Amino acid sequence: MSKSDNIWYPYTQMHDYTKYLNRRVIRSGTGFYFYDNEGNRYLDGVSNMWCNVWGFSSNRITDAMINQIRQIPHSTIFGIGNNKSIELSNKFLKLTKGMNKMFFTDNGSSAIEVALKIALQFWNNQGYLKKTSFLSLADGYHGDTIGAMSVGYVEKYFKSYKRLLLDCRVIPNPRKVTLDGIVNLEKLSVILERTEKDN
Ligand SMILES: Cc1ncc(COP(=O)(O)O)c(C=O)c1O
Repeated sequence: MSKSDNIWYPYTQMHDYTKYLNRRVIRSGTGFYFYDNEGNRYLDGVSNMWCNVWGFSSNRITDAMINQIRQIPHSTIFGIGNNKSIELSNKFLKLTKGMNKMFFTDNGSSAIEVALKIALQFWNNQGYLKKTSFLSLADGYHGDTIGAMSVGYVEKYFKSYKRLLLDCRVIPNPRKVTLDGIVNLEKLSVILERTEKDN
């Protein structure tokens, strides 16, 4: 393995990485473990950043993926639906009581960007053109794109990008929030993201 493999690794100090770690790479995975090129076994304690909650070798999931790829690997929903997205949305909406529409994105940060855009467009459509700012709870993390960094500002990660960020207000993070009197809701849309207890 060469000293550098030409990849910038996210949230990784590259100087340290090239110095200490770059000889090992992941080769394979089975169940909740993965293996590197030297045969070392690791417990996947963060479920591959929450993308692998069922383990690496669940036959049910692998078979479903193979079947789907054989049928059709991708079909855009720009203007025309497909049976699987409709099936999935029906299942999700049964779980998310009180919601009645879904918008698909392919990662968490994009989902936040979409939510911000939907809020902005909603208020635009109602004629509230001043509502261009967002209100979020302190200590939240919503992702790494511009909007997501704005509403989930974490100084140590995002300070270099501060000049690019959207106008946001942050309030403390109590269990129960009463917004009346704390903020000017004429200008602000509120973002709340329900999460698992990981951050
Ligand atoms: C609560 C929360 N929101 C958003 C994100 C961003 O998701 P993604 O990394 O898929 O962009 C994360 C990622 O860890 C998250 O934990």
